[in-house]
Amino acid sequence: MYGTEDVVGDSIDGIRDQVFVASKVLGSHLRYREVMEAADKSLRLLRVDCMDLYQIHWHNSRVPIAETMGAMEDLVDAGKVRYIGVSNFSTRQLEEAQSAMRKHPIVSNQVLYNLVDREIEDDLLPYCQQNNVTIIAYSPLDQGGLTERPRLRRRRATEALQRVSSETGKTLAQVSLNWCLSREGVVAIPKANRVQHVEENCAAADFSLTPEQVRSLDEAFS
Ligand SMILES: NC(=O)c1ccc[n+]([C@@H]2O[C@H](COP(=O)([O-])OP(=O)(O)OC[C@H]3O[C@@H](n4cnc5c(N)ncnc54)[C@H](OP(=O)(O)O)[C@@H]3O)[C@@H](O)[C@H]2O)c1
Repeated sequence: MYGTEDVVGDSIDGIRDQVFVASKVLGSHLRYREVMEAADKSLRLLRVDCMDLYQIHWHNSRVPIAETMGAMEDLVDAGKVRYIGVSNFSTRQLEEAQSAMRKHPIVSNQVLYNLVDREIEDDLLPYCQQNNVTIIAYSPLDQGGLTERPRLRRRRATEALQRVSSETGKTLAQVSLNWCLSREGVVAIPKANRVQHVEENCAAADFSLTPEQVRSLDEAFS
C-alpha cells in the first residue's frame, strides 16, 4: 500500500544482517492464498529470504481469523517470516487472533499512540503488557504536531512539553518519542523524510525521562 518495499530493498542491500525488516499484509488480502501471495510479493520486492516481522494491517470481519492466522503460522514454518504481528487490532480482536494460533505467538500490535492519543491506555496497553505483545506506536509525533512547532489544543500541554525539553536539553520530538518508550513494552515508529529528522529521532532513545517528568507530561496531556 505504501509502495516502499522496493526502496527498502535497495536501501538494505549488503546490510541485511544489520536491520530488522518489517512489512504488512493488507486487511483486504486475508484469505489463506492471498496472505501467501502477498508475502511472496513482499519478499521479492524487499529482496530478502525472510521478513523479521509480518503484520496484518487491519482486522477483516469477513475472513475467519483462524484462516488468516493459519497462513501466518505457515509462513513462519516455511522460514519466510520470523515473527507474526497485527495492526489496529482491538483487545477483543487480538484475543481472538491469539486463540486461533496453534504454535506461534503474536508478538506485536501496531496502533495509534502518542501523548495526545491515549485511547489504548484503557485496556489494550495493559492487556498487551500482561501478554508480552509489544505495542508499536504509529504516528508517535501526532503527525508532526509534537515537534518544534507544536500543534496542541491546550496551552498547559505545550508548556509541559517545552519545560521537559529545556530540562533535558532534548527537542520536543525527542521528548515525545522518549515518553512513548517510557511505557513498558512500547516502541515507536516515527516517519521522517528528512535526514536531520531521522538523526534527531534516533537520538530520542539514548536517555530516560525521570518518573517526575513522565508524570508531569501524563497530567498535562490527560
Ligand atoms: N498501521 C497503520 O495503520 C498506520 C497508520 C498511520 C501511520 N502508520 C505508520 O506510522 C509511521 C509514522 O506515522 P505518521 O507519519 O502518521 O506520523 P508521525 O511519525 O507522528 O509524524 C510524521 C511527521 O513528523 C515530521 N517529523 C518527524 N520527525 C521530526 C522531527 N524530529 N522534528 C520535526 N518534525 C519531524 C515528519 O516530517 P518529515 O517527513 O519532513 O521528516 C512528518 O511530517 C509511518 O511509518 C506510518 O507508516 C501506520
